[in-house]
Amino acid sequence: MKTTADETRLEQRFQQRIEQEQKIEPKDWMPDGYRKSLIRQISQHAHSEVIGMQPEGNFITRAPSLRRKAVLLSKVQDEGGHGLYLYSAAETLGTPRSELIAALQSGEAKYASIFNYPTQSWGDIGAIGWLVDGAAIVNQISLQRTSYGPYARGMVRICKEESFHQRQGYEIMIALAHGSPAQKRMAQDSLNRFYWPALMMFGPHDSESAHSARSMQWKIKRETNDDLRQKFIDQTVPQIEYLGLQHPDSEISWNEARGHYDHGEIDWNEFYAVINGNGHCNRQRITHHIRAHEDGAWVRDAITAHNEKLRKRAQQVA
Ligand SMILES: [Fe+2]
Ligand SMILES: [Fe+2]
Repeated sequence: MKTTADETRLEQRFQQRIEQEQKIEPKDWMPDGYRKSLIRQISQHAHSEVIGMQPEGNFITRAPSLRRKAVLLSKVQDEGGHGLYLYSAAETLGTPRSELIAALQSGEAKYASIFNYPTQSWGDIGAIGWLVDGAAIVNQISLQRTSYGPYARGMVRICKEESFHQRQGYEIMIALAHGSPAQKRMAQDSLNRFYWPALMMFGPHDSESAHSARSMQWKIKRETNDDLRQKFIDQTVPQIEYLGLQHPDSEISWNEARGHYDHGEIDWNEFYAVINGNGHCNRQRITHHIRAHEDGAWVRDAITAHNEKLRKRAQQVA
């Protein structure tokens, strides 16, 4: 049996490895809290990738050209792939995927709130790629240095694909913003609706964030919510200027002393309302996920039966 003294020693050794920037691997000793935090964060991330396929999937059949359709289809497929890498990374911590998915479907697990907003126009597909994938990249680049090995390595690959997503979105915005007056209005409207929810993707202010401090100590998180959000705000200003659109935040202004843009306050009431299930599409997203999961049951059954057959055959040969 392990004594408290043993535990303390293990924990000190663990924290030392973190300080030395060594990656923690699945079979290494880790504190319970570290494991739980990671399962929560990685599965939440996986759910976001998969639920995020829905708002954009809504426009695959309505893309304005064959080329746009092919690009969007490929982008949405990538998101499914990101979900798979991340579920696999979460499984290395000992929780089976079926349990993670059950938690999503029961509402116990969360996913990024942004995907509870509806896609109303083609401009929204541009704004999502540009702003939502753009915000995700800022966060995920930082997570390439997260302390858990499988998560960090998953992020490297995901980031490469995310930068393609961001560019395809921005390219749609360029076409619209430099197009007819009606197209320009569409681009502005999409920017207005997705800008603030994109800022909310970085989570609450650090002072309000339940998990922030400990996640920083364990180097699960490498930069604070507010620092990452500031990076995104700063990089978005020239992009909006290039499009010739109006910035949705009337208080945006360059602060020479800080070397950053000052900005208006986020509507946190809206943030918490959507997180707590009162966004436009919360129910629709989960209902759709459950239906797709049930429709796919025969595939899972067939794979299980096939593997069982292979296993028996191998046994007979042996
Ligand atoms: Fe993704
Ligand atoms: Fe993406």
